[in-house]
Amino acid sequence: MRITNLIDKKKSNIELTSEEIKWLVDSYTNGLIPDYQMSAFLMAVNFNGLSDDETYNLTMAMRDSGDILDLSAIDGIKVDKHSSGGVGDKVTLILLGIIGALDVPFAKMSGRGLGHTGGTIDKLESIPGFSSELSEEEFIDNVNSVNVAIASQTADLAPADKKLYALRDVTCTVDETSLIASSIMSKKLASGCDAIVLDVTLGSGAFMHDIDEARRLATKMVNIGKKCGKKTIAVITNMDEPLGTCVGNAIEVAEAVRSLKGYGPGDLMEVVYTLGANMLIAAGKVDNEGKARILMDTAISNGSAYNKFLEMVNKQGGDISYVKNYDSLINASIIREVKAEESGFVHSIDAHLIGETVRMLGGGRSSLEDDIDVSVGMVVNKKVADSVKTGQIIAFVYGNDEEKVDEAYKNILKAYTIKDERIDKPKMILDIIR
Ligand code: URA
Repeated sequence: MRITNLIDKKKSNIELTSEEIKWLVDSYTNGLIPDYQMSAFLMAVNFNGLSDDETYNLTMAMRDSGDILDLSAIDGIKVDKHSSGGVGDKVTLILLGIIGALDVPFAKMSGRGLGHTGGTIDKLESIPGFSSELSEEEFIDNVNSVNVAIASQTADLAPADKKLYALRDVTCTVDETSLIASSIMSKKLASGCDAIVLDVTLGSGAFMHDIDEARRLATKMVNIGKKCGKKTIAVITNMDEPLGTCVGNAIEVAEAVRSLKGYGPGDLMEVVYTLGANMLIAAGKVDNEGKARILMDTAISNGSAYNKFLEMVNKQGGDISYVKNYDSLINASIIREVKAEESGFVHSIDAHLIGETVRMLGGGRSSLEDDIDVSVGMVVNKKVADSVKTGQIIAFVYGNDEEKVDEAYKNILKAYTIKDERIDKPKMILDIIR
């Protein structure tokens, strides 16, 4: 086979066979196809898309490019959860406590932040001592002893996706639905779970910007999961403004801990409860969302979800005194108030710009090798639909560099659209695809 023939085929919108896709993925992973030719192929896919068969074959080839975890030593139905990315998305942190407290094994493989979106592993590593570098044995032992474990995706898990994702990031080919579907599903299928609950985010902070596109992505992933014999559900959620009130790393852990103690913001908790309910149903714990919500509410109000989170952090080497006293996690040297320059109602907050601003402050990376500053971030003090008066604080910037904080201040003012007309709070759950 020749890579130029395959690029040409995709450019002419001719369907590739499963053998061709497998060869392409294996050859690229092994360094036999250079980045410039793979980039051309990806761009052809971006314009012409992939058929359902091609998407499935690409997923399988990427899943099989590395190890497939065997979680059979963990009893019960192992449910995994994955988000297609967002700004202020600390849902997994909260679900680790809740789902673990409800005796459902939660073996979570997570990624680091890239682009404007944050990563759960980076957030957790803001707790001194916390380690997500678990061997397969430690990962399984931790789930068996405390019900929950979170590990960073190892180099051996779907390595083809790791390499392709990095290339997509720098060739503007991240946001094509078949490429996203195969990227997410290859990792989930390699991580050995029995059921998968997907959070397909939609809006300015997400990769999907219209509901039809989000439904197409959700349907593709659900179909791939089902074809592999895994119960798969996709929830389409609103990511048109930052989720909750905090964006960053340490600051998001603090918000997650507050949420586990019962003080989570409404928009965030609606997403947590909907995804959590679908996880509990998929695990066979309950048969409807109403019952699931009662269990989750109880786990928060009786403190068991918070205690489970502490147990998991402790098991993974984290210093729980920082979780107990979560304000101590936030130690940026500069805290700047951002004040509204007009009165009215908040109509939108550009979540992409907010995510980019936190990255610029040092809270995210531009390449995988970059170090991040976990102490920086921001608090969104006024959310969409809130009323605001000139001079009121709409946000706080947390930073360590005056010039960057000045730039963040300007960006935040730009990210907010304030108008005279009153508007309703946005709906958080936009669709569920089963
Ligand atoms: N998250 C992933 O894991 N892959 C994508 O392509 C997009 C979001």
